[in-house]
Amino acid sequence: MEQLASIDAVRRYRKAVSGSLGFVPTMGALHEGHAVLIRRSTAENDATVVSIFVNPTQFGPGEDLHKYPRTLEADLELCAREGAAAVFTPNSAMMYPAGFTTWVNVDGLADKLCGRSRQNHFRGVCTVVAKLFNLVAPTRAYFGQKDAQQAIVLTRMARDLDMPLEVITCPTVRETDGLALSSRNRYLDPRNRQRARSIYKALQAAETGLAAGETDVATLKRACWAELDGNVDRVDYVEILAADDLGALEAVDKPALCAIAAFVGSTRLIDNVILAP
Ligand code: PAJ
Repeated sequence: MEQLASIDAVRRYRKAVSGSLGFVPTMGALHEGHAVLIRRSTAENDATVVSIFVNPTQFGPGEDLHKYPRTLEADLELCAREGAAAVFTPNSAMMYPAGFTTWVNVDGLADKLCGRSRQNHFRGVCTVVAKLFNLVAPTRAYFGQKDAQQAIVLTRMARDLDMPLEVITCPTVRETDGLALSSRNRYLDPRNRQRARSIYKALQAAETGLAAGETDVATLKRACWAELDGNVDRVDYVEILAADDLGALEAVDKPALCAIAAFVGSTRLIDNVILAP
């Protein structure tokens, strides 16, 4: 496996690759959720590039940019084990040289859910992923349903800007008790790790309600809140929106994204399920 540590190196690598190229962008601290994306990419493409870059522009002031876990050696081992052909590890100076002033905004979709509480978050995500797409020039790029809004926003960006690649969204990988795998789970002490289970339980409460015939969005959201109450320290949002365009819904009469963001201690966790009527 090659480690590409500069823009020149990744461009040279791209020129030499023939056949299809899969791409898995990450911020490192890799776990089984990332591994599944890499495996899917290696199965579907002749070669796979993983990028590892903790992108400063998608973190807000007071967020966890500086304490975000950095585990490069273990990450490189995981990438090699999963069959990645190359890992691109740029730094901030390369990605955002002096004078950098161009941003990619996906209006509308990026303003809801996480975009409401994390101002400029998706501007940072879209800009860095657009740059990475330009550098890696993949045939297919793989993202996780765990970050549902991110996958929706990036799919729209690629479509709207005629980016010549396919964006593929892969199912969320969970612990056996349902907690979605996340690099941020490492912040949880044992007590908060237990309390964090309530987020998936809340999503299941909405699924159970829908299965029992309840389609009213306000009622389903109340069922989620009841599970979270007392278990998380602050709820950022509980939302049920149209799964395709994040439009408002009063009833689940078409596929809906049920999404939760909540703080357990000082750790902000997100998770979601698709509610299919
Ligand atoms: P990061 O949080 O490292 O996630 C990288 C990819 O792994 C994302 O597509 C994310 O949805 C996926 N992923 C994380 N946990 C997952 C899980 N439990 N199941 C399935 N997929 C999972 O998302 C980012 O990095 C950044 O915003 C990035 C796109 C790299 C831009 O900086």
